[in-house]
Amino acid sequence: MKKKEFSKRRLQLMRMMGEHSIAILPAAPVRQRNRDVEYPFRQDSDFYYLTGFPEPEAVAVLAPGREHGEYILFCRERNPEKELWNGRRVGQEGARERYMADDSFPVSDINDILPGMLEHVDKVFYTMGCNSEFDQRLLGYVNKIRANARSGARTPEEFVSLEHLLHDMRLYKSEAEIKAMRHAADIASDAHQRAMRLCQPGVTEYQIEAELMHAFRKANAHAAYPPIVGGGANSCILHYTENSDELADGDLLLIDAGAEYEFYASDVTRTFPVNGRYSGEQRAIYELVLDAQAAAIATVKPGNSWQMPHHEAVKVLAQGLSDLKILKGSLDFVLESESYKQVFMHRTGHWLGMDVHDVGDYKVGEEWRELEPGMTLTVEPGLYIQANSERVDERWWNIGVRIEDDVLVTKTGCEVLSERTPKRIDDIEALMREGGV
Ligand code: GLY
Ligand code: MN
Ligand code: MN
Repeated sequence: MKKKEFSKRRLQLMRMMGEHSIAILPAAPVRQRNRDVEYPFRQDSDFYYLTGFPEPEAVAVLAPGREHGEYILFCRERNPEKELWNGRRVGQEGARERYMADDSFPVSDINDILPGMLEHVDKVFYTMGCNSEFDQRLLGYVNKIRANARSGARTPEEFVSLEHLLHDMRLYKSEAEIKAMRHAADIASDAHQRAMRLCQPGVTEYQIEAELMHAFRKANAHAAYPPIVGGGANSCILHYTENSDELADGDLLLIDAGAEYEFYASDVTRTFPVNGRYSGEQRAIYELVLDAQAAAIATVKPGNSWQMPHHEAVKVLAQGLSDLKILKGSLDFVLESESYKQVFMHRTGHWLGMDVHDVGDYKVGEEWRELEPGMTLTVEPGLYIQANSERVDERWWNIGVRIEDDVLVTKTGCEVLSERTPKRIDDIEALMREGGV
């Protein structure tokens, strides 16, 4: 992502904030995994969206109209000894030169500098409740100013949640963001194809997971979320991530795996037979989910409501469940009684972007939001028929199918970003027959 992209975002946000205001964003904290081992650091998405700055222990401040610079970055100081042990640091000079900060200070000085900045503004934009340590710190600054009231210090009049402005910006993807998302989807597509080629009875779920990770890291990406690799009964567990079992002949394998590339996620699910051939029942369920997905994707266009793809998917699934006699009763009964929720218990998608379940409101007031060009969402209907499902014939048990693609709303309709991932039965079976990697 070019530096210009980040400065454009900062300017846009500052225009919306107006003068005499300040926005404060802390970097993500480092989290402990066990004893002195840390989780791999992932920058906070909001912070990264505005700064492109990769380090922890940093705070970005935007102060529109501030005479001595509008964009201030507090970050760690250079320190040759610490850098020798723990890696390079950008430092204050680097923050100005490489990250286009107008001004930069050591983060260790923030308690002396930031309260002074707060004294001169009416409005503070800050997202409360996501970083409790920093929440406390900010309250401390305000109290410090209040304590000096008799010497003329004034606390800001308003605290405004930053997330509304920022998350609405993040909902509309720019060309550069779409390019990153297309690439993330391509990487996921390679990973899924690799898994399809390698899958056969006797291979384990974790070996398939290893293939996915291989494809991600080879492309300089990471997993956008822990991959779900569930065979047979495990395909019916929505957030199955143990990935510990051996794959059995005759079972389906559900893989939900997406790549994160340059901080943008893909989120792709495919479901295919472990032995390379769908059984009659598996085929019937698979085709039904595929039809539901096609009907849902057909409604992704500007002006249609967020709810429409879900609505269409439910209609197709309910009709199929009734026709196949998996659920009792007519289409109307299945819809009205919501009995379909026994086997389709999640929604048909979510916003997608820097976070896999990305930010942005789904409703405006009481109404579902209208789709607009630049929004990206997943379309992911599924059916999950667990063993011993009440009143469902045994031949359908342990069939869990989800088909998930990433879809960009365009001016005229939509583009399926993950379309390179095979999903027609013939294409999947042909690829599995080919095998090899
Ligand atoms: N991978 C999470 C989801 O599909 O929503
Ligand atoms: Mn998803
Ligand atoms: Mn998914």
